[in-house]
Amino acid sequence: MNYELFPYFSRSMMLAEIVRNIFADRFAAPALVFRSPGRINLIGEHTDYNEGFVLPAAIDKAIYLAIAPAETETGTWISVDFGESIEVNRWHDGKLSQAWANYIQGIVHEFRIAGHKPPAFNLVVAADIPIGAGLSSSAALECVVAFALNHFLRTNLDRKSLAFLTKKAENEFIGLQCGIMDMFASLHGRMDHVLRLDCRTLQYDYFPLELNDYVLLLLDTGVKHSLASSEYNTRREECAAGVSGIKIRFPSVSNLRDVNLEMLEESAEFLDKIVYRRCKFVISENKRVWLTCDALTKGDFDTVGELMYASHEGLQHDYEVSCTELDFLVDAVRNDPAVAGARMMGGGFGGCTINLVLKQEVPALVNKLASAYQHFSGNALRYYEVVTGDGTHAVKIQSLV
Ligand code: GLA
Repeated sequence: MNYELFPYFSRSMMLAEIVRNIFADRFAAPALVFRSPGRINLIGEHTDYNEGFVLPAAIDKAIYLAIAPAETETGTWISVDFGESIEVNRWHDGKLSQAWANYIQGIVHEFRIAGHKPPAFNLVVAADIPIGAGLSSSAALECVVAFALNHFLRTNLDRKSLAFLTKKAENEFIGLQCGIMDMFASLHGRMDHVLRLDCRTLQYDYFPLELNDYVLLLLDTGVKHSLASSEYNTRREECAAGVSGIKIRFPSVSNLRDVNLEMLEESAEFLDKIVYRRCKFVISENKRVWLTCDALTKGDFDTVGELMYASHEGLQHDYEVSCTELDFLVDAVRNDPAVAGARMMGGGFGGCTINLVLKQEVPALVNKLASAYQHFSGNALRYYEVVTGDGTHAVKIQSLV
């Protein structure tokens, strides 16, 4: 957050009040304030677009949006974090010059093609989700805008429909062929729970996250390699190629979700070697989601940790979406008795590792890792102890400061 642009706001002021106050100051009008969180994913990586299972949670860091319809045909959108503002005419339907504004524009576009007529909006956004750390700050922005427009346009879309709408905006307007996990988690999160989501049926349940002496610690590589989105789309194509090959022997298969390792083995002759490894990872990762839930129920954190390491192995060697910085951080904790398990999290090629760590050992661990990581990568190691939080909601602000 670029506080220097707004020196009269202290750092301790809640972001909800900050966006509301900036809005009032700039537009001399009241606004509604909404909030949508970032997400983590305990396990179940690259399974969402294969109609598989994921185990994400919303976190306590979020995007805050103060918004109200403008009285003219052109609204002003302000990003506190980027220190930028942009004027947007309500009839403009194409891309905008600022990347952050396109996540908002994509949502407006989706409402428009669904037959609604969004007015121009004035809005202010600010976030405490670290940007580029793989915590889905862009999905949170899309969700908070969709939630707000749903309110103003009285479209009565439920949260599942909003998750579809935001995913469509990301796939079609932004152009990243992501699955539904990030948006679903941001919209549906619940404090102290992970979400066990079936990405085929979109049925889900809230699974209590009771970690006893452990906490979830994110170690941020501080890098985002540029091939992330092109490789992501390539993985989707490789999975689709896998399904086509497996269908030769098993015609009823419509997705990797329908395939087990025996079926994959029997189809190996129809699959390119790389495609075979991609499929093997996805099939095994789906199984790990269920095994992780079983182990969590029993409070068996050693098994949860082993499954996390196995997930990382697969992502590194079979799915090939890791990078040297992520591998370094996982290898650095692998034999540390304070750490039950670790793996890269999210799409890959940068972002964070997620670690299951004994709470009282966190300070010593990060202390030990910080200099090793700095030496290895030249980047300072940032880290975040994860607290789960609730999904998208309107924020009621009691008092004006
Ligand atoms: C990104 C995508 C998600 C999901 C993960 C990998 O975060 O946005 O849909 O595919 O990568 O699990």
